[in-house]
Amino acid sequence: MGLGKLLHDHAEHADAGGTIDHPRAYELASEVGFFGRRREIFTRLAALSRARPGDRVLDVGCGTGYLTRILAPVVGPAGQVTGVDASPPMIEYARRSAPGNCSYQVGEGQALDLPDAGFDVVVSSLAVHHIPAAERGAAVREMLRVLRPGGRLLIAEFRPPTNRLLAHLVAMLTGPAMRHNPRDLLADLLPQAGFHVEDEGDLPVMLSYIRASRPAA
Ligand SMILES: C[S@@+](CC[C@H](N)C(=O)[O-])C[C@H]1O[C@@H](n2cnc3c(N)ncnc32)[C@H](O)[C@@H]1O
Repeated sequence: MGLGKLLHDHAEHADAGGTIDHPRAYELASEVGFFGRRREIFTRLAALSRARPGDRVLDVGCGTGYLTRILAPVVGPAGQVTGVDASPPMIEYARRSAPGNCSYQVGEGQALDLPDAGFDVVVSSLAVHHIPAAERGAAVREMLRVLRPGGRLLIAEFRPPTNRLLAHLVAMLTGPAMRHNPRDLLADLLPQAGFHVEDEGDLPVMLSYIRASRPAA
């Protein structure tokens, strides 16, 4: 049984990771999976998001809220960080340790219950590959809809090792959804949705990111 199966309660689409329903196990697996560098790497993600004091930030697929808690002091008391995740146990966990300027809601990235143009920044880490493949286009369109014109997007995704044996091992441990290269996952979806893709890069421990913006009106 792979780690993916241990973290999920129910059968999911074969092409996606699905929801994660065991927040404490997820926290432990993440600390181990990032070789103790999780805070350093997520602090870099927060910087890459270009969130600034006073910004309203949305984290799609926020899980336990780890990145939202790192972003909270970046946006400060005048800002607001909202986390959305499809898993009620993950949202419950996030709420328990929420800073004052963070709030959370259960919901799906492909059908956000949030107003148009209400955010300056949207972030999403390790979550797009959890959304069913057929819904990923809708999820990216939702990210565009809730961003104000000129708003910024950061998506960070798992980057499978280039070594075929290692890639196979990772897929065995985590599930088939993590076999895909995030660039294949997002390269077409973002421009199709109307985003202006700005740059992309790799981060340590098998992550890569893409930054984009909603064109100004
Ligand atoms: C690998 S975790 C990443 C959590 C967090 N962003 C992080 O980096 O630690 C993927 C998250 O996506 C959530 N998820 C799965 N399907 C989703 C969907 N359709 N919409 C929103 N979140 C979803 C899962 O419940 C899980 O918490």
